[in-house]
Amino acid sequence: MKNPYLPSPMRVEKIVIETEDKNIKTFTVNFLNDEDEANFSYLPGQFAQLSVLGKGEAPFGIASSPTQPDGLQFTVNKAGVLTTALHNLEEGEIIGIRGPLGNSFPIEALQGKTTVIIGGGFAFTTLRSLVNYMLYPENRSRFGHMVVIYGARTPGMLLYKEELEKWKARTDIDVHLTVDKTDGNWQGKVGVVPSILKEIAPSPENAYAVVCGPPIMIKFTLPVLRDLGFPPERTVLSLEMKMKCGIGMCGRCNIGNQYVCKDGPIFTLAQLNELHGEY
Ligand SMILES: Cc1cc2nc3c(=O)[nH]c(=O)nc-3n(C[C@H](O)[C@H](O)[C@H](O)COP(=O)(O)OP(=O)(O)OC[C@H]3O[C@@H](n4cnc5c(N)ncnc54)[C@H](O)[C@@H]3O)c2cc1C
Ligand code: FES
Repeated sequence: MKNPYLPSPMRVEKIVIETEDKNIKTFTVNFLNDEDEANFSYLPGQFAQLSVLGKGEAPFGIASSPTQPDGLQFTVNKAGVLTTALHNLEEGEIIGIRGPLGNSFPIEALQGKTTVIIGGGFAFTTLRSLVNYMLYPENRSRFGHMVVIYGARTPGMLLYKEELEKWKARTDIDVHLTVDKTDGNWQGKVGVVPSILKEIAPSPENAYAVVCGPPIMIKFTLPVLRDLGFPPERTVLSLEMKMKCGIGMCGRCNIGNQYVCKDGPIFTLAQLNELHGEY
């Protein structure tokens, strides 16, 4: 069995600057070895540890969908040592990867249901994976209607702009984009995600809510979902705790008796309520 701490090499194929402040980039990466590629089977919501030699490693949600044939994608916000090292890479350079890690969004449970997808900031990465997975032609009929509410600080901070336009052109998905501050040309909504959720008021009937975002967004979104009637069992969250090993060995990421890296990062609110922990 392969040592779980040993990264596999991947080549950076493409780097796209996502935001106008140039602080968020999407990396498309491909395995150097066929065997590593064959062993990397993932679902939306999972993450991986990316490493740059001599700089360290850190966890990142997988932003691509497994239905995408052209490599894995990660969208990285420049925050500190490792993320700066990733931002300094050029196409063709080699990074390390360990994964896929953690659990996925509850794909089985979402089948036949309306899915309300609520995201803010760069935490939208794994939600993008989920949306593309559900929209994939061979998967689409398994899932019900989709509602996306996605917010960023300004229009220039929205990720995946071309893809958002394609989603908006479809009739089987309602896409509501919102910004905290408009730039004058903005056609979408203005306001924070919880307020827009309240305004749109999606029905909780036969529906799941899936939420990823900064802690402040989650804090104010959960009461809105509760008031709309989404039960904790059908409210799904992705958590971003600080992590080290990513495989349930170091004890850095636990809430109660659960390791966010191994038992999560995806939990229902009902599960989190049982744990009575800080998240
Ligand atoms: C499951 C999971 C998925 C993630 N997915 C993404 C993703 O898709 N894209 C992305 O850009 N980031 C993601 N993150 C956050 C990312 O792991 C951190 O930004 C990264 O570890 C920072 O590393 P660094 O060496 O650049 O920063 P450091 O030099 O270690 O720290 C710089 C700053 O970042 C803060 N920081 C470090 N780790 C975290 C963390 N886990 N959460 C919040 N702040 C942190 C530090 O407190 C410090 O203020 C994810 C984290 C987790 C746990
Ligand atoms: S990061 Fe080590 S136990 Fe979760």
